[in-house]
Amino acid sequence: MSETTLYNYEKLANFITNLIDDGVYVKGARIPSLRQICKQHKLSLSTAMQAYHLLEDKGILESRVKSGFYVANRPTISLPTPTTTNSQNTATLVSNSGIFLEMLEFAANPRYAPFGCAIPSAELLAANKLDKSLARAARLNGIENNIYTVPRGDLKLRQQIARRALQWGQNISPEDIVITCGCTEALSIALKTITKPGDTIAIESPAYFGNLQLAKALNLKVLEIPTDANNGIDLAELTSAFANNSIAACVFSSSFSNPLGSTMSDDRKRSILTLLAQYEVPLIEDDLMGDIYFGETRPRPFMAINNTDEIVDQANIIYCSSYSKTIAPGYRIGWVVAPSRVRDILENKLATSLSNTSLTQVAMADYLSNSAYDNHLRRIRRIFANNIDRMTRAIKQYFPVGTRVSRPSGGFLLWLELPYQIDGKALFKQALDKGICFAPGTVFSPNPEADDRFANCMRLSCGHEWNVQIDKGMQVLGKMAANAKNP
Ligand SMILES: Cc1ncc(COP(=O)(O)O)c(C=O)c1O
Repeated sequence: MSETTLYNYEKLANFITNLIDDGVYVKGARIPSLRQICKQHKLSLSTAMQAYHLLEDKGILESRVKSGFYVANRPTISLPTPTTTNSQNTATLVSNSGIFLEMLEFAANPRYAPFGCAIPSAELLAANKLDKSLARAARLNGIENNIYTVPRGDLKLRQQIARRALQWGQNISPEDIVITCGCTEALSIALKTITKPGDTIAIESPAYFGNLQLAKALNLKVLEIPTDANNGIDLAELTSAFANNSIAACVFSSSFSNPLGSTMSDDRKRSILTLLAQYEVPLIEDDLMGDIYFGETRPRPFMAINNTDEIVDQANIIYCSSYSKTIAPGYRIGWVVAPSRVRDILENKLATSLSNTSLTQVAMADYLSNSAYDNHLRRIRRIFANNIDRMTRAIKQYFPVGTRVSRPSGGFLLWLELPYQIDGKALFKQALDKGICFAPGTVFSPNPEADDRFANCMRLSCGHEWNVQIDKGMQVLGKMAANAKNP
């Protein structure tokens, strides 16, 4: 509906929504009183009241008795969440997908509306302080840093990582940390350490395509465990998977999974840990999104719960993470924590890449040594939460009625499910022709060519600050999705 055909109260509601979206009023802020807004916009009190109540109904504002209206802490947007996949029962090898490489090719191209790439935009990373740390490391110690680091990686960096982990109750020794080339190498080394070709690993479904590619490269079978966009791994399905299969390892996200964005409660994590211990299945946990939480506190990784809560039999965990999603995807700095397996991990690291770039590790350690990273995280968390809300509102506005979308409490990814079957690959190509890139649902399946379970799904990245190109892209994509219904 165009702005001119709207009622005055709807126009006012849109005006306030835009102020919130633009960050003029942040979550929890008091917005102008009804009297002030009437005066500013020359509207009647009843029109203003109607607008505020509309925003309250939408979950964008909340009223407080005798105090006025405030921006809701997390606006509720009334769209249904995605359905959970059915259980697969059998483990499968991963097959090739041309579309996966094609997607990566376009995802980082700035000429395309950036819904495909799962890293924040360069502007949001705005790593000026990190650049300064890098310049300092080169200027002061360029020669000393042009070396192979010790096998575990730069000690100061490992100390910073260990100190940060204390914030969420994870007590790790720098000696148990091995620096890797991004989280990808951490996961790869962890898998090489505890599996052999032909083994089966349990993974979330839909699955992060990087894990699928790793399984393929290592000749592992994958068993998909149905995963709910809100609550994560289905416990009954996991129990049955353990009872009926020989599983060499589980690879699960700690928080804000890719692509669903799901996070499990501490209780559910404890239940999973109990099952893992009971069936003696090791867990490789991927915590690279954990710092991007929208709530009050950072969700605890499995390893922190395993080590600090009263768990009778502890599970065997290898923890993986990186700085790729928060500050430096290009530095390729990740790490793996495996107190009982450090030697094996080190041997695999040496065989894979010997050592990481030294200079970037020194720079990262310097950057982490003051409050810059925490300040940066506070900023991007607010922006990502806002982006997710705006994208969700755009989905509601532009996509077909009945579209389902995830509601993550962290990260910057949305999983969207259309209410009918479509040819997802055709839609992907059509969108590319219009300058829009997204991650088609099929790339999150182990057999993308043969499997149409996720053909009507897409993963949309919200890692770029809202702008006209994004709004237009969502409008065009929504229209294409509406026209893509299979006859
Ligand atoms: C869940 C998950 N794990 C691992 C990775 C790889 O991270 P890195 O870039 O640090 O290798 C990604 C990147 O998209 C991811 O989404």
